[in-house]
Amino acid sequence: MSRAPILKVGIVGLGRLGRRHAENLASRVAGAELVAACSPVPAELAWARDTLQVHHLYADYAAMLAHDGLDAVFLVTPTSLHPQQIIQALQAGKHVFCEKPLSLDLEDCRRVSAEAARHPQLKVMIGFVRRFDASYRDAYEKIRQGAIGSPFMVYSQTCDQYDPEGFFVKFAATSGGIFLDCSVHDIDLARWLLGNPQPVKVYASGTRAIHHDLQQFQDVDNGVAICEFDNGRIATFYASRTMPHGHDTMTEITGTAGRLTVGGNPRKNRLEIADAHGVRNECLPSFFERFEDAFLTEVSTFVDAICQQRKLELTLDDATEATRIGIAMRESLLSKQPVML
Ligand SMILES: NC(=O)c1ccc[n+]([C@@H]2O[C@H](COP(=O)([O-])OP(=O)(O)OC[C@H]3O[C@@H](n4cnc5c(N)ncnc54)[C@H](O)[C@@H]3O)[C@@H](O)[C@H]2O)c1
Repeated sequence: MSRAPILKVGIVGLGRLGRRHAENLASRVAGAELVAACSPVPAELAWARDTLQVHHLYADYAAMLAHDGLDAVFLVTPTSLHPQQIIQALQAGKHVFCEKPLSLDLEDCRRVSAEAARHPQLKVMIGFVRRFDASYRDAYEKIRQGAIGSPFMVYSQTCDQYDPEGFFVKFAATSGGIFLDCSVHDIDLARWLLGNPQPVKVYASGTRAIHHDLQQFQDVDNGVAICEFDNGRIATFYASRTMPHGHDTMTEITGTAGRLTVGGNPRKNRLEIADAHGVRNECLPSFFERFEDAFLTEVSTFVDAICQQRKLELTLDDATEATRIGIAMRESLLSKQPVML
């Protein structure tokens, strides 16, 4: 039996998440070889060289795309760069994995889809990592098997631990705000778990409970939103940057014959502490510990799809729809009015 060739990959962006993807690609993903890295920051390139033994280092993205034999790029760059970088990669004949969200602008999402349609031999996937988490996947399969009857309601939250450094306040300049940065994961989950319903109307609200400096970006540190879909299906979202206890992502799906909950207790591990304060468990510190396995499964799924010529379940249309709903939530937050879709 002939073995599939090894996919030669270049990574772009080696920040908070790019380093994690780079570590996975360098040693944990069968079928892939990390051959090149790109960043405008020399220290990040030095890290890739010294820690991961990546020898082809580029400060310029176009130069990396011209690297001989490169098959695919991983874009882990600021969201505002995603659409143009995806288009450039497709035009250079590369498969593309890009972090979420696809874009903050609907027209840009459509430009990416149009370019992808011109290159049907190339795969493009946006990193909605929760679809690759074992518990979310189990919930999805059980819903498909009819375990909770007909699902009609989702509650989903992404709540980050309070960070006194306020990393995300600076990040807010390019992140698109709390709904497009955080709730976009929950929006994608709600669509996936409810069977891709059509959104009809959203309403959003929010507050600056601690980080008042978010006002300069018209952003909030706690946001809530409701999205009504067709056929009476509905989703409620909550995103927060101020949780004292840790990273608290959870989702509840209610159907006509039952309810499924993923992550109801965001426990760090199986240790339970009983002492004078009561009985408790510690909480996960950040999204990365919660989804560490899922990040690896996500990347492996993408690489396998290319090597085995398999269709990707997660499409650019899914990513565009998540952005469309996220934009409507931001509009509603700013206008204080419901937004029709
Ligand atoms: N899936 C998730 O749960 C998740 C979690 C965190 C971040 N993200 C997404 O990942 C992306 C990156 O986020 P982050 O937290 O790693 O940000 P970051 O600011 O820590 O890193 C951004 C990286 O991009 C590099 N960069 C900037 N401009 C560049 C350019 N022109 N060419 C090449 N590289 C450039 C920077 O040097 C840095 O290495 C964002 O789109 C974010 O939404 C997703």
